[in-house]
Amino acid sequence: MKPRTNASSDIPPQLAVQRGMKPAQIIDQPTITAQSMPEEVVFEETLRPSRLADYIGQKAVKENLRIAMMAAQGRGETLEHVLIHGAPGLGKTTLAAIVAHEMGSNLRVTSGPAIERAGDLASILTNLEAGDVLFIDEIHRLSRVIEEVLYPAMEDYMLDLVIGKGPAARTVRLDLPKFTLVGATTRIGAMSSPLRDRFGVIHSLEFYDVSEMEEIIRRSAKILGIAIEAPALTELARRSRRTPRIANRLLKRVRDYAQVEGSGIITLPLAKHALDRLEIDALGLDRTDRKIISTIASHFGGGPVGIDTIAASTNEDRDTIETVVEPYLLQIGFLKRTPKGRVLTPAAAHHLGLKIADQNSEQRLFA
Ligand code: ADE
Repeated sequence: MKPRTNASSDIPPQLAVQRGMKPAQIIDQPTITAQSMPEEVVFEETLRPSRLADYIGQKAVKENLRIAMMAAQGRGETLEHVLIHGAPGLGKTTLAAIVAHEMGSNLRVTSGPAIERAGDLASILTNLEAGDVLFIDEIHRLSRVIEEVLYPAMEDYMLDLVIGKGPAARTVRLDLPKFTLVGATTRIGAMSSPLRDRFGVIHSLEFYDVSEMEEIIRRSAKILGIAIEAPALTELARRSRRTPRIANRLLKRVRDYAQVEGSGIITLPLAKHALDRLEIDALGLDRTDRKIISTIASHFGGGPVGIDTIAASTNEDRDTIETVVEPYLLQIGFLKRTPKGRVLTPAAAHHLGLKIADQNSEQRLFA
């Protein structure tokens, strides 16, 4: 086993202390130091709970993970590989860090697109220590070649290395320490089934309800020392797309307004004013959401229209529409996916004050 050499890429100790965790190592990603870390990242790291007990919502997922971890610990075994899927910002990375912390293990972080060659993965795997949690974000973006290397590592803790080329090439099997792979994906449908099937624990994160969002914002405000009144908290919770990452970001932006234009305290009028200025509407929709809804309405008669056509017409990236914009619009009943394409619902048209030519026809809402 190679000694670990890339200690310089450890998450800065100050963060590790804040999170009550052992320093976790970021592998194969640019070195992030406290100075160079974007403010957004520092902010998120500070607010991330490190214990399952502090993780708000997702009750069933938490309970199942708690049992799986306790059982593995009771048997003195490594936790089985865990796959977490859900829309961006719902807390997949947070859960991976919690798993590592609760199991008393190191967390190693990488992502599907960062692992370009089999050698990249081999180096990550051979640097693991027994019990480590390896977090692979966007795991659906691993190439098939890399997946092939991952299978024996996941199943038998073995690494098959091909040494040499052509007729002289030979395979060497290396033993790996027992580790837990935590994979996260926003697109479970894009994962190959052999990869999906190798996870023993599979969980899906749902959008949070408003009372859970209130709790998350209350906790964040307390950690950051932000004064926020109860009605303002509810307003922020309602406009945060039921997503903790968005709530935390909006809390920070609204705090700016309270500081510059208010008394420092986030009151309801201040929160409304700030969110309006940030162009976040009463349901949490932003400019991109509204652009997509109004384009489907005005250019395509409310649908059905294909995703590529929507992307081309709005000048937005298809992947962003599918993974970031659509899940929330589907969740609040503004959009439907049909075999012929996306269709707006009357609720979406009503929300944006768009005219409905034929209210009885879902196929052609806007003639
Ligand atoms: N940050 C992200 N997800 C969270 C959650 N579920 N509870 C508390 N803080 C969070």
